[in-house]
Amino acid sequence: VHQPMIAPSILSADFARLAEEAAAVSGADWLHVDVMDAHFVPNLTIGLPVVKSLLRATDIPLDCHLMIEDPDRWAIGYAEAGAYNVTVHAEAAADPVQLAKNLRAAGAKAGLSLKPGTPIEPYVDVLKHYDTLLVMSVEPGFGGQKFMADVLDKARTARRLVDTGHLRLVVEIDGGINADTIEQAAEAGVDCFVAGSAVYDATDPGQAVARLRAQAAQ
Ligand code: DX5
Ligand code: ZN
Repeated sequence: VHQPMIAPSILSADFARLAEEAAAVSGADWLHVDVMDAHFVPNLTIGLPVVKSLLRATDIPLDCHLMIEDPDRWAIGYAEAGAYNVTVHAEAAADPVQLAKNLRAAGAKAGLSLKPGTPIEPYVDVLKHYDTLLVMSVEPGFGGQKFMADVLDKARTARRLVDTGHLRLVVEIDGGINADTIEQAAEAGVDCFVAGSAVYDATDPGQAVARLRAQAAQ
């Protein structure tokens, strides 16, 4: 068992000061970047130009979460730009196996995300081609929502598939992770915890990262 990973989500940061907001969480493992297109989800955020600027502004590996339609076409640009991990949604990808191969060929880790209502079972074979599984614990689209504990069964299934050698994945969770919820997610076997409001609404975001990591490690 290794150290839990914390990935602050800049969705809850000040978008006019992204370089400083990244520097404020320099102890983070990954910086989670929520890309939304107002079609796959009912919200619009940032895209490739901002990601390219962020890559120049921080040394923290970028974990790009693409909540967009047609990721088969658009995800590759994030990998080519230098994002560390590029996660697409299973519900949006037409050919998730080919997409993972393309992302890896471009030098990125490939991630697959499942919305709260999407089961893992139909995707087990697809996940053999992926490096990370992002379990959504809120409906994607907005920060600051309430944690949906029923998705923890999905995290437990993923953990079991990894521990039995069927899959090799970082199990990541996203949505409503804070001091009250991170321990149950850690118990379910999650490796990497995305936290937006719990980090950036704190007075000291760097300290919030350290505290969450310590809690997840218990
Ligand atoms: C939601 C995003 C999350 C969001 C999490 O669609 O994918 O990454 O930033 O925010 P919190 O941690 O506030 O739920
Ligand atoms: Zn996200």
